[in-house]
Amino acid sequence: MALFTAPVLLGAVVVAALVWLVSRLRSADAAVPGPVLNLFSSLPLKYQEFCGNRTQYIHQLHRRYGSVVRLAPGEVAFASLPALKEIYLSHGSGYDKTSFYHLFKQYSTPTMFSTLDKQTHSKRRRLLADRYANSNVLKADAVAGIRERAQNFATAAAQAPNQTHDTYISLHSFAFDGVTHHLFHPFGSNALRNAEDENVMREVSFDNTLPRRLLEYYCPSGLPTKFLDLFGLLPSPRSVPRAKQIVLDAVDATLDGVAREEKGEKSDAPGPADFTLLARLRDPALGLSRMQIAAECMDHMAAGIETTGDVLCWLMWQLSQPACRGIQDRLYAELRENDDPAKYDSLPYLNAVLKEGLRLYASIPMSLPRHVPAGGRFIDGTWLPEGTIVSCQPYTMHRFDEDVFPNPDEFNPDRWLGTDPELDAEMNRRFFAFSSGGRGCLGKHLAMAEMKMLLQEVYQRFETVMGDTDGKPADMSFSDQIISSRPKDQRCMLKFVPRVSDEGVQT
Ligand code: HEM
Ligand SMILES: *[C@@H]1O[C@H](CO)[C@@H](O)[C@H](O)[C@H]1NC(C)=O
Ligand SMILES: *[C@@H]1O[C@H](CO)[C@@H](O)[C@H](O)[C@H]1NC(C)=O
Repeated sequence: MALFTAPVLLGAVVVAALVWLVSRLRSADAAVPGPVLNLFSSLPLKYQEFCGNRTQYIHQLHRRYGSVVRLAPGEVAFASLPALKEIYLSHGSGYDKTSFYHLFKQYSTPTMFSTLDKQTHSKRRRLLADRYANSNVLKADAVAGIRERAQNFATAAAQAPNQTHDTYISLHSFAFDGVTHHLFHPFGSNALRNAEDENVMREVSFDNTLPRRLLEYYCPSGLPTKFLDLFGLLPSPRSVPRAKQIVLDAVDATLDGVAREEKGEKSDAPGPADFTLLARLRDPALGLSRMQIAAECMDHMAAGIETTGDVLCWLMWQLSQPACRGIQDRLYAELRENDDPAKYDSLPYLNAVLKEGLRLYASIPMSLPRHVPAGGRFIDGTWLPEGTIVSCQPYTMHRFDEDVFPNPDEFNPDRWLGTDPELDAEMNRRFFAFSSGGRGCLGKHLAMAEMKMLLQEVYQRFETVMGDTDGKPADMSFSDQIISSRPKDQRCMLKFVPRVSDEGVQT
């Protein structure tokens, strides 16, 4: 019996392997360029993900194989404009998100960002969109709050010992204070001046749970996680109790006000300011539960800290390199000539510097995964069946086409000041730092306003140079997280040297 079963089993295994091999070789992926191993296994890609190196790996595959590349069975990446339009812009918001986005639930509750399908998503987005429209972001009291926080940053820089401090920390505090002002004012944070609030920011920014969260996504059964936990081989689960509490406190204070109003009671406590997200979410007509409101707020808060903080940190570090002195001088000249703070949004050089920062250091440089819809699609000439995971990544969109971005790795704000309208249009179509279409960044105008005001406050008063790093310059290379990237060492010592104005008076 045993003699009979062994060969039968072996035969069955060989046949199954052959069937699988042939099906892989005849799959749509097989027609896509890419490493042979990646046609059969997702392990090479997953290995890079666990190393925090997904973006660089995909970029290098594009350089080797071209604008379409196979990443893993059933997963393909693109680096061309027609593909970007098809995946992210067709029918307004492009293809549906993949279940990867379930990793972004907050308080175990779905949010707009974590919603996969178009219909549910656009219903929620329509309710919130006007909070982030430029007309709302630029309301006098909204702007005044951001301005005050940018000034707090500059004051802190001037007061630091030797004017040197870790701007990774202070810029994330600034981003935290800026976004919570827009979400909650007057219940926002004051991390630049208050150590307790700074600790909330640290809790969110120094999260180190990448391997655990990836494992939870790839093995939802939870068995590998439990196994590795037995030996203490994984970082502890993501835990942001202080951040959760700060959001719940703001939500509860608001809902308390709503309840009093409904009872006809008067209250001295102010509710959230008119321009805030909370002022919208509190509307009982929306029918959102306390937890749904908190989840949405928590998501926007997280979306606004890392992204804005990291871009500013990379950009100021770049500007502080000796080779960028001339760029700082030009920026200073523009800011001094236009010293009306209200002009921050109409300064061409400031805009070019920031855009170049966002191009090289998009803080979400990673691919944004979507599913090919029912029936399959041609994407930039490549046929892919329904369900294939497809994506573009900002990191590569901003570098790949060297006719549009010559010397792509060079920091050169002048490329945004060109005189060729056609080239400008080509660059802008590929500008993907905020993604594009109906699922693109909702907070873009807020982020741009925050970053411009901060740069204005800093560079009209200071020159920044590399600070003393005890002989060990911080590693600023990209360290990929779940979807955003951050400077590897999460530390950036810069020195803020006060500019001396023409009259010889320190400004
Ligand atoms: C430099 C700063 C920022 C960058 C580079 C950035 C980038 C992005 C990107 C690339 C996406 C799309 C992600 C995807 O499809 O997976 C996104 C979505 C989003 N961002 Fe931002 N973001 C920034 C700042 C902000 C700020 C300050 C807020 C404030 C609340 C914000 C709120 C959001 C929200 C709510 C979404 C989800 C939109 C939706 O699902 O419809 N972002 N952001
Ligand atoms: C990340 O990927 C790049 C490109 O494939 C490679 O050169 C580099 O060695 C990788 N880094 C790590 C830490 O694996
Ligand atoms: C300030 O800078 C000077 C010169 O760069 C250095 O000698 C001094 O030790 C620094 N002081 C502090 C408190 O860091």
